[in-house]
Amino acid sequence: MLLFVYLIFCSGLIVSQCRLTTEDGCNLPAKGNSKFPSNFSFGVATAAYQIEGGWNADGKGLSLWDDFTHNYPHMIDDKTTGDVAADSYHRFDQDLAALKELKVTHYRFSISWSRIFPNGDISSRNQYGIDYYNNVIDKLEANDIQPIVTMVHFDLPYEIQKIGGFANPLFINQFVTYAIELFNNYGDRVKTWITFNEPLLYCKSGYGEANYPPQIHGAGLIDYICVDNTLKAHAAAYRVYKSKFFNTQGGKIGISLDSQFSISNDTALTHRAMQYNLGFLAHPLFSKSGGYPEVMVEEIRRNSLKEGRITSRLPDLDGKWKHIIKGSADFLAINYYTSRYISRAEKPIGENPSFERDYDLDESIDPKWKRGLSRWLYCVPEGLESILKFIRDEYDNVEVIVTENGWSDKGDLEDIERIQYLKSHLQAVLNAINDGCNVRGYMYWSLIDNFEWQRGYTVKFGLYSVNMTSPTKERTARNSVGYYRKVIETHLLS
Ligand code: NOJ
Repeated sequence: MLLFVYLIFCSGLIVSQCRLTTEDGCNLPAKGNSKFPSNFSFGVATAAYQIEGGWNADGKGLSLWDDFTHNYPHMIDDKTTGDVAADSYHRFDQDLAALKELKVTHYRFSISWSRIFPNGDISSRNQYGIDYYNNVIDKLEANDIQPIVTMVHFDLPYEIQKIGGFANPLFINQFVTYAIELFNNYGDRVKTWITFNEPLLYCKSGYGEANYPPQIHGAGLIDYICVDNTLKAHAAAYRVYKSKFFNTQGGKIGISLDSQFSISNDTALTHRAMQYNLGFLAHPLFSKSGGYPEVMVEEIRRNSLKEGRITSRLPDLDGKWKHIIKGSADFLAINYYTSRYISRAEKPIGENPSFERDYDLDESIDPKWKRGLSRWLYCVPEGLESILKFIRDEYDNVEVIVTENGWSDKGDLEDIERIQYLKSHLQAVLNAINDGCNVRGYMYWSLIDNFEWQRGYTVKFGLYSVNMTSPTKERTARNSVGYYRKVIETHLLS
């Protein structure tokens, strides 16, 4: 009978019905203790440009993503912008109500640099912008919800971008000045900071492949400079915090790194791939030796010389910076969504340089993996367990917070697939903890539906749906809210 139902639904056009069955692989078997530690942090995440709207409200300056969505509408699937989005700039109370209903212990959100310094520089300091986040943080505190604050989530003041953004070494001091402003204003209440979100993604897409703003064609060259300046800016801000703020504020600072797990039977191949993915930024920060992963240093230098260059395309982290960067993070924040199988590619040298060329691996998926609405998103919870174990073994069991993990769909309130994804990935975290991994928290992406960058509003990641066409932008709980709240209340997976 079951087979009959399956054939009816899955052989014809009603393919989406197929995905609602639990039979097609988004599960993970439990290993060990079934309860999360009592001090485990459960939360949700958002980012300023994706939810706030108010793009020019109260003195906010133009940002990179304002410019991109206004001037290159064809680059966004539904030609929309974040001008209004979920209007959280005017409707934070609606978000707060959702956070309270969920009973989360933590809320990860980001600050828009263009609200604090509209032209990027301290001379343009904007009190209205500063007050907005003071209000958010105060209300979280009044409700016993700890803030986790991201300083830069993809978006930058346009004036900073105009002079090169992450490709300009001036960026390091510009960022530190901004970070100090944040510590001064919010450090009495914010105890967990994240400097940058997903550098590998914004560097590769924005400064390499040119399919994200600022659309720079610099694959295998400028994207590497972008990573280099990101690490330096992060470390410089960390050192200032430790010397000038830590004694009185006592907070901790990390950086959110995105990585898939690269699966293969060949452990050496997996190890090499993980150095290119996670290790590119994690090795300089968390390894004992510091600097870029040796395999990247050697291979990119060899490739560069073969291409006729006189130096490596990968910047040389000289002694001074290597030491400033090494150890400049109190925890590793990981954004995990999906994984890939890998195999050797052996792409010929002489092709245009790129990260992909240096990486030199082919990637594939298992057709059994369930796919989200986002083209790249497959449910692979075992990848999260593996990456947490990789971090345990590679970086001396550093403290980890999962700062993003989420599922996209068309937006139904009955979101069975999101619940499956959430459950199996929480299981992965629990299995990793049971296996000695130092994981302290999990933030689901996202609290509410929002502007999904180049996908506009066509895919939904929210636990809460947002009525984007209504002027009051009502938030409505999806079924996953009840599921997640129960996990948070009981610390058990059901
Ligand atoms: C990671 C990014 O940090 C976030 O902004 C984005 O919406 C999610 N991935 C989903 O694509």
